[in-house]
Amino acid sequence: MRQELEKLGDEAKEKILQVKDEKSLEKVRIEFLGRKQGRITKVLRSIKNLPSKDRPLIGGLVNQLKEEIEKELKERKKSIEKEEREEYIDITLPGKKPLVGKLHPITQTIEEIKRIFMGLGFRVVRGPEAETEYYNFEALNMPRYHPARDEQDSFYLDNNYLLRTHTSPVQIKIMEKESPPIRIIAPGKCYRRDAVDASHFTMFHHVEGLAVDKKITFSDLKGSLTYFVHQMFDKETKLRFRPSFFPFTEPSAEVDISCIMCKGSGCRVCSGKGWLEILGAGMVDPEVFKKVNYDPEKYQGFAFGMGVERICMLKYGIDDIRLFFQNDLRFLRQF
Ligand code: DAH
Repeated sequence: MRQELEKLGDEAKEKILQVKDEKSLEKVRIEFLGRKQGRITKVLRSIKNLPSKDRPLIGGLVNQLKEEIEKELKERKKSIEKEEREEYIDITLPGKKPLVGKLHPITQTIEEIKRIFMGLGFRVVRGPEAETEYYNFEALNMPRYHPARDEQDSFYLDNNYLLRTHTSPVQIKIMEKESPPIRIIAPGKCYRRDAVDASHFTMFHHVEGLAVDKKITFSDLKGSLTYFVHQMFDKETKLRFRPSFFPFTEPSAEVDISCIMCKGSGCRVCSGKGWLEILGAGMVDPEVFKKVNYDPEKYQGFAFGMGVERICMLKYGIDDIRLFFQNDLRFLRQF
């Protein structure tokens, strides 16, 4: 009897291991443990016909076997479910890309400008967006009567403060605190009361640059800006320094680059001129040095200021500055 039970158990376990799906597993269960015809059930039922002295031992064995088979069935059911699940995972499919955020194109452009000038040994500094007239104008050699100081052009706040109209005041703040040699760039927001159109916005970003040392020349300015343009655009891009005027530099220049679109032959982007203006620059005016107590006989410096939106628009062929500030994801996702 014991041997028979063992054989029955082995057979059941073997069958359980061989089935491949839940339906066949259920068939095996019914074959052995089915309430009416189950082979183990039958043995269990026949115990009452045994001599009473054998009943407890055999009964115990059969019950133990029944429990074992039930356990095997349960485990096999679990493993079949797992196998089925795995069949549906196609490991050759590409994974799902998690949605990751991106930096705004203006931030990306500022990062790029920073990277280039840091490579030339410039340090990144920041200044406040609300400035006094002294820092925004006066110290930069723009006296009271200067047309840029007209209230029509700037956002004035209370008590003599205004929103800075350029990042040039950061030059003054740094020179007041430190002595040469100085090499800094100052990126940040600027504000002007301009009428908004495709190329003007009331808020925009500038990057100011300043280098002060003994024996700094206009060639250093040209070299640094040429390196910048070649890195930002490409090495084929040409530069043109056009004489200009800024109250805080002397001599001053406006810097043009050969048109990114037509390479200089003339197109709509450059209005047929072949050149695009990208920044203002010059040698620091001795009057500015005097304001910060630097000796103009001892030190020279160059400075420049560029509009980040303009650089970004040229780099990516964007024709309307307003696109930067509308937060349209269809636009922003392209960068
Ligand atoms: N601050 C000037 C502007 O508002 C830009 C500029 C021009 C900055 C010449 C400079 C400079 O430092 O030397 O357009």
